[in-house]
Order: sequence, then C-alpha cells, then structure tokens
Amino acid sequence: EKDGFDHFMLKEIYEQPNAFRKTILNRIDAEGKHIVFEGLQWSSEQIQKLDKIFIVACGTAYHAGLVGKHVIEELTRIPVEVEVASEFRYRRPIVTDRTLVIVVSQSGETADTLAALRESQRLGAKVLAITNVAGSSIARDADEVIATAAGPEIAVASTKAYTSQLIAFYLFGIYLAQIKETIPEEERQVMIEALCKLPEQTEAVLQHADDIRMYAEAIKDHSSLFFIGRGIDYAVALEGSLKLKEISYIHSEAYAAGELKHGTLALVEEGTPVIALATQTELYEKLVSNIKEVKARGAQVLGITLEDNVELHRNVDDVCLVPSTLALFTPILSVIPLQLISYYASLALGHNVDKPRNLAKSVTVE
Ligand code: F6R
Repeated sequence: EKDGFDHFMLKEIYEQPNAFRKTILNRIDAEGKHIVFEGLQWSSEQIQKLDKIFIVACGTAYHAGLVGKHVIEELTRIPVEVEVASEFRYRRPIVTDRTLVIVVSQSGETADTLAALRESQRLGAKVLAITNVAGSSIARDADEVIATAAGPEIAVASTKAYTSQLIAFYLFGIYLAQIKETIPEEERQVMIEALCKLPEQTEAVLQHADDIRMYAEAIKDHSSLFFIGRGIDYAVALEGSLKLKEISYIHSEAYAAGELKHGTLALVEEGTPVIALATQTELYEKLVSNIKEVKARGAQVLGITLEDNVELHRNVDDVCLVPSTLALFTPILSVIPLQLISYYASLALGHNVDKPRNLAKSVTVE
C-alpha cells in the first residue's frame, strides 16, 4: 500500500503532482479561460456583496489559509483575516451576513474547526469548506464545499493535503476575480496557464530530493534552526517550521525576515542553520539584506529561490532552486524542499516518520 516507498509521508510527497492535477480537473473550462465550480450555489450578487472573508483552520490547514489570504486579497481586494479555529470560536468575531467564512480541513473532522463553522453560521455567515474528505462532518455542515482531490492522507504530517488546499485557494481566488472583474481576462488566463504547469514543475523539484537529503542529514544534530521569509514566503516558512518540529522534534522558529532585528537575531550564533525563502522578486533585495544580517552572526544559510535568481548563491552557503512561476504560486514549489528536509531529518534521527510522538492524524477533541 506504500507503493514501494518506505513511508506514507514520502509516498504522499510524491503524489503531489497528481493530487494537483485531480484538484484542477474539471474546474477549468474547455478553452482554458475560466474557472468553473459546478457545485457552488452562490449567485454573483451574493459574491459582490461580500465585504470580509475569514479563513479559519488549525495547524497546517491554517498555514494554507495564510497563503489563501495573500491570494484572495491580491486577486479581489476583499479584506481577509486568518485565524486558528481554537481562538476564533471562543471570542466574539465580527461576522455578519456579508462575511464569507472559509474553513479548511484535511480530515473534515477537526473539533475546533467544526465548532468555528457552526458559530459562523449562527452569526449569519455563509461557510465554504475546503476539505479532503467528502463525507466528513465539516463537508456535511458547510453551505458550500470545495473538495481537494489529494486522496487519503495517512501520514500524520500533512503534505499533499496542504498543497492541494493551496491549489483550491488559487482556483477560488481566480473564480472570485472572474465574478468581481477585479483582474483583466488576459491576466487571469496567464494565471490559469501557470497553474496548469505546477504539477510538472513539482515533479522537477522532486528530482532534487537527493541534494535535499544531504542537507537534512547535515542539520539533524542541531538543537534549533530558523526559517525566514517575507510576504507569502513567511507563510511557507511557518509551515516548514511546523513540519520539522512535528516529525524530527528539532526546535525551529519561523520569522518574518524584517522582524529578526527586533529580538530573534540574539539567538543566531556561529553555525545556526537558517533556511531563507527568497522567491518573491519584489522583496528579493530586502531578503538578501536579512540573509547578510544572519550570515554576519555566523549562520549557515540555505537559500530557497527561483531559477531566475541564480546569483543568490553568492550570499548563502547552500542554494535550492525551484522553477519559476507567478509570485502567488511559489509556495507550491518552495514547500516541497521543506517537506523533504523534515522527512529526511526525521528518518536520519530514527524517528517514526508517519506516526510522530504525541500527535494524532485527526483531532476530534478540543
Ligand atoms: C500538521 C498537521 C496538523 C493538521 C491539523 C488540522 O502536519 O497535519 O497540523 O493540519 O491538525 O487537521 P485538519 O486539516 O484535518 O483539520
């Protein structure tokens, strides 16, 4: 059942290109110009009157939501707030009938996320669920569902479910932009074309797994490391850090790179590994300055960037290049090396990769 892979997690990492193909399938029209969501029942008037979107989820699904915020705000200019479900459900969130609440859940059974869904409906909002399990409680109770087609995810550490959630956000973001006409048709078409290239580009990233394995083995005995990034890269840094903690038990922190000087830099010393995500062309120079700051304190830096930025190698100790894509789509490609780093670090340390200590696949208690 592991198809020749040693662990479910590795199998699921390699299943990502097909999970994307399946999640995209039937959601782009025959001419490749428009996004279609057959199941969605909203009228364009309902969509036009939305003045606020909440994305509510836990753990990795919350991290997908952080990317979703960038996507939806950029494409529609509707303000988006992202919150962990266990916080959202116990405060008084400002939710009205003009609010759309998007809950994100692989399993569709996470207790806090389900409670957030019900509370949002009670307050008058419509709830859209992005979930991987069609018959789940969250899929049943939500007003609308976008199903990710990642297939069953067995490893506790989420990989293909997360990236398929990102694909769902891209599709939904373009769909909203189409209805609200916030992005010109030509630009939407460029996005659709770039989206369709992601499965193949992911396959290209996976071909470098051996280099990433060497890096993971080199950092495995460190007691702590840092992930830094700006903008959408920061959202990916958070996910990379969670994944590493979860299965390798190595302490790590993700930092918005501009925040380093406000305290974190004190923890960077000779040899501290820092993984710097630098995929955003607009923020590239700023990120390079942050890399110089940590290098000056002796950090060992792995830079993850797009193929176009080959000169990054001058500023870092190791570099991992991923294929070039649109700025909003880079998380799909840059998270793959981070998934592989946590997998190979956990493996090298002899941990139970698929079933890490203290964690359960589906958290049905709060
Ligand atoms: C991390 C991980 C967890 C889940 C979280 C939410 O790898 O798997 O953080 O993402 O427990 O689970 P779902 O998506 O099933 O609601």
